Formats: sequence, C-alpha cells, structure tokens
Amino acid sequence: MTIRRLQLQHFRNIQSADLTPAAGINLLIGENGSGKTSLLEAIHLLSLVRSFRSKKLKNLIQHESERFTVFAQLASGDDQTLYPLGIQRGQQDEETEILFCGSRPSGVAELTAALPVQLINPDAFRLLEGSPKERRQFLDWGVFHVEPSFMPQWQRFQRALKQRNSLLRHGRIDPLQLQLWEQEIARCGEQITLFREQYMEALRPLFASLLKRFLDVDDFKLGFQRGWDKNMELAESLLASRTKDAEQGFTQSGPQRADIRVSLDGHAAMEVLSRGQQKLVVSALKLAQGALLSVVTDKQCVYLIDDLPAELDRHHRSIFCEVLEAQQGQVFITGVEAEALATGWQQPEKIMWFHVEHGQIQPGVQP
Ligand SMILES: Nc1ncnc2c1ncn2[C@@H]1O[C@H](COP(=O)(O)OP(=O)(O)OP(=O)(O)O)[C@@H](O)[C@H]1O
Ligand SMILES: [Mg+2]
Repeated sequence: MTIRRLQLQHFRNIQSADLTPAAGINLLIGENGSGKTSLLEAIHLLSLVRSFRSKKLKNLIQHESERFTVFAQLASGDDQTLYPLGIQRGQQDEETEILFCGSRPSGVAELTAALPVQLINPDAFRLLEGSPKERRQFLDWGVFHVEPSFMPQWQRFQRALKQRNSLLRHGRIDPLQLQLWEQEIARCGEQITLFREQYMEALRPLFASLLKRFLDVDDFKLGFQRGWDKNMELAESLLASRTKDAEQGFTQSGPQRADIRVSLDGHAAMEVLSRGQQKLVVSALKLAQGALLSVVTDKQCVYLIDDLPAELDRHHRSIFCEVLEAQQGQVFITGVEAEALATGWQQPEKIMWFHVEHGQIQPGVQP
C-alpha cells in the first residue's frame, strides 16, 4: 500500500504536519536538525511500531507534550478505498494505542503486512558488519511477506526452543520431554530453513542485477548459512549437541543461528569494500527485497532513504535515482541540499518536493 495522506502531531520536533505525498518519489529537503529523519521515523513506526533510532517510543513524544499521534490514510494502487491507520502514545500510557481500519490490529504483523517498509539510512552498512541477528531480521522480513506459513512456524519454533533451553538449564534432564521438544524444533526448524532457502534463491537474481548496476560486478556470492552442520539433519544435530548445550544453557544449533553473507571475489564484502560501496551493496539487497515482494505478491514497498547523497558520488547517485524510479513503490528520500538530489531523474516532473524547516513540512517546487 502507499501513503495517500500523513498527519503527525507532537512527533519529535514536528509539532504538526499534514502531507499528501506522491505515490512515487517524494524528496524532503531541509537543514540539519530540521525534522527530515523524524518524518521517516514516523512512517517506519506505522509499519513496525518501533523506531529505528530509539528503544523507547516515549522518546518520540515532542518535549513538553503529552502524546504523539501519527495518522495515515493508506491505499492500494489506484483503488479509491482508504485504510486509516493511527498510532498514539502518551507519557503515562502503558500501551501504545493503534487503530487500523477502525479496530485494534491482532498484532504488529498485521500492520507490517499492510505497509511493508524498507529503510536505507547512513547506518545501512551495518547490515554487513553488524550482528547476524540484524541479517536474520532482514531475511525474515522478506520471507514473512512472501510466505504466509512462515510466521506461525516461527512462533511454534520459538516456543519449542524456549522449552528446550529451559529444560537444559534445569540440571536433571528428562530425556523424554527433551526429545518431544527437539522433535518440534526439528520439524519447524527444517521448514523455516526451507522457506529461507527458497527465498534466498528467488532473491539472488534480483540482487545480482541491482549489484551489476550499482557496482558493475559479476563475481559475487550471496551465501546463506542455515545455522547448523550442513551434513546433519537438525534433529541429529540437536541430539549430538545435548551435552554441550546443557553446559552452555542454550541451544547452539538451528535456524536461530542462521546468517547471510555477501562476498566479492571470494572476500567478505565488509572487508574489501569502501563505505559508499557497502551502502550500495546493502541498498541492492533491500531494493531486491522490495522488487521480489512486488513480483511474488501484489504488494508494494515504501522505501525510506535517509540522506541519499551521503557517501555517494554523482554517478552512483544517478544510478540510484534511476533504479528508484524504475522500482514500483512509494519512495521518501531526504537530503540536506536540494542540488545533490535534483539531478539524475528520468521523470523529474513526477517528483514531489517538500521543504522541512524547524519541524514544519511544506510542499514546494524544486528549489
Ligand atoms: N522528543 C523530541 N522533542 C523535540 N525535539 C526533538 C525530540 N527528539 C529529537 N528532537 C530534535 O528534533 C530535531 C530533528 O531531528 P531529525 O533527526 O529529524 O533532523 P534531520 O532533519 O534529519 O537532521 P540531519 O540533516 O542532521 O539528519 C533535532 O534537532 C532533535 O534534537
Ligand atoms: Mg537526519
């Protein structure tokens, strides 16, 4: 879905904003500290009910204010039906209030499914060098959107894993109980892994063609490690590692340890590439996910690209712009200077510009 209208109140430094963005490219220009990233944060919140900058949603409330509100009218393609989505959080509230189409959603997954969002910000390179957990989150975002059975399997797996870990920490282990949970872990774990492998298979060609455009390289590998010995089934691996796992107090093999790895000419991407090149690799991964989403489902992704010009030269900025224009989906791009964002577009007349100044967001023409 795309955002037809977005209204914010008391969100970070934005006292009040009311935007009607384009279904395609939206450019937000403003000085440092004007509120650009805050706006992207608000859109991200609508999809995931969490911030990418702060652990506590309370921090998003404008200082001296009681609560923030983020409200959007979502729509799908040319369909005239609007789906209202609102999130509110107060200083005193225990819970964040969410209303989607007039009722409380069953879980965050319902919002994520309705509004898939991909964020590319100046920290993007961290996906390559950060913890495997971040890469698993990246991978599972994709699997979740294309495979409806992934989420229930993952929940069952997590429950069984928790039970096994708790038994392992208990000292005296009941082998029968352990065996039952291991069977469940193995069954769900193999299934989750199959979903992930199929997803990676589908992602590779899309990633390859984007990487070719961004970096002009062919010799790359997008590897997937499933999280346990490749010569064993998960059930065998769990059985073989019981003693070791009991010593450590947790399960050391399984899809909860999976990882992905990008390498070029046989070297890990993070070890050989410059910062700008790393940003392009991660962007290729995220844009490939968005492209795969629209191929497999009829959904389109909203891309949030914070400080697009950062680390990129003119040539690579242009390629990035072309790729974004060709990609179906709504895009919000921020930048400090209009100049760096003004060139490289094939259809500049379709672009919507916004000026951000001291928390005020106004539509405008290209400066
Ligand atoms: N809870 C809050 N209440 C009021 N202001 C806040 C709050 N949290 C952050 N701010 C301020 O909001 C301002 C806007 O921050 P934001 O990160 O959105 O700016 P930006 O336009 O992205 O800047 P940059 O170009 O430097 O990335 C900052 O000056 C920050 O100090
Ligand atoms: Mg910013």
